[in-house]
Amino acid sequence: MEQANSKGQWGSKFGFLMAAVGSAVGLGNLWGFPYKMGKSGGFAFLLIYLILVVLVGVVIMLAELALGRKTGKGVIYAYRSVSKKYTWVGWLGWLSPLLILGFYCMLGGYCIKYSVANIGDLFHASWGIGDADPAKYFGAFTSNMGQTCLFTLIFTILTIIIVNGGVSGGIEKFTTVAMPALFFMLLIVIIRSCTMPGAGAGLSFVFKPNFEVFKGTGWISVLATAGGQMFFSLSLGMGIMVTYGSYLKKDDNLEQSALLIPFFDTLIAVMAAMATMPATFASGLDPAAGPGMLFITLQTVFNAMGAVGPIFGFLFYFLVFIAAITSSISLLEAVGSTILDMKEGSGITRTKATLIAGIVVLIEGLFISCDGLGANGFPQIFGQGCWLDSFDLVSEGIMMPLGSLVCAIIFGWLKKGYVEEEVKLSSEFKMKGFFDFCMKFIVPIAMVLVLLGQLDGFFG
Ligand code: PHE
Repeated sequence: MEQANSKGQWGSKFGFLMAAVGSAVGLGNLWGFPYKMGKSGGFAFLLIYLILVVLVGVVIMLAELALGRKTGKGVIYAYRSVSKKYTWVGWLGWLSPLLILGFYCMLGGYCIKYSVANIGDLFHASWGIGDADPAKYFGAFTSNMGQTCLFTLIFTILTIIIVNGGVSGGIEKFTTVAMPALFFMLLIVIIRSCTMPGAGAGLSFVFKPNFEVFKGTGWISVLATAGGQMFFSLSLGMGIMVTYGSYLKKDDNLEQSALLIPFFDTLIAVMAAMATMPATFASGLDPAAGPGMLFITLQTVFNAMGAVGPIFGFLFYFLVFIAAITSSISLLEAVGSTILDMKEGSGITRTKATLIAGIVVLIEGLFISCDGLGANGFPQIFGQGCWLDSFDLVSEGIMMPLGSLVCAIIFGWLKKGYVEEEVKLSSEFKMKGFFDFCMKFIVPIAMVLVLLGQLDGFFG
């Protein structure tokens, strides 16, 4: 098969699927989904989320993969190939991963720290968590600049090393092993969580219909939270899937991928809720505890498990670390791939492009780490409590829905037939009617609502 893209190509269909699912499944699923669900009424959030995935996620996914494969370029040049007028949408899609990567690497670093600390507990070592109160331990760690910077550094370097290995040699090889392993580790934690006495209440919270939170205008805020979460979780609206699509062969079935990636991503998010909520309820903890849930609530649960606690603790945080790194490599690849496009013909190597992007990200990650999640007394902006939240709000809350809104206008209205033409190279376009309708009407309306909901939080 001829090499469609000089920057690299996937070795197999399964490899691509694992890399794309690896990008999608990450902290968004294991950290964001359960805590946002906890704050937004459990089942009600799940329902809105599922509707959005089907009506918005699948169609934007298809459009992005098609755009990438057709142009063979990273996001800026891909939009530019459609028309020079759209280059700015590409820039938006290029800046989002840059904004996200800094805090992503910091959180990935937290996962390494917690994996190590749980191993420490296994050996009753002084570097374990020991008898410390999980909330105090978390606060002490996150506000310790030296420690957080060190772990952010380690995580960022690991990301750079894998991306430098190339598309099929680095990213694909790593994710093909990591994703199935992650699935099985998650199953083990779910079994433990669901067999704790009192776990049933957690499962009811997730699966039993309850629409309390929709009262008044509550539904808009649930929609905005679920919408932002969906973009983040599916790695949409920011050029990742455009970039990964650009390494696809012309006979790879786009439609199938656009269904399978959201399916697996949503499955893992729901599994993460099943791993988290039953244990939270069984331990009498607050499901609406917020972002600290992953590190405070769950560590409390592991502490209460006695001798086997550190084993489950290590397994869980290591799992989250694997999920995080398969996503961070896609973010770095998207940034680096566009640098390669920009310098095409100049003889720039993948290593150099990856290093340039990696160093920018590292500086950003160290900067956000110093804030200590708002505990270190630095000034805050946009009414947010910490720098992480500000970066998250601008990227996940505003730039991604905005990018997708414009993407829907371009491929639903202005360049009709663009996606269809590309999809038909490899298969029939079975969902054409559904795609056209959602792209034209549903996505734009949903995106405007999501943006309004986010802006309300932004100014409110
Ligand atoms: N989708 C990943 C997650 O859920 C994060 C991510 C966002 C990765 C954007 C790539 C691009 O954690």
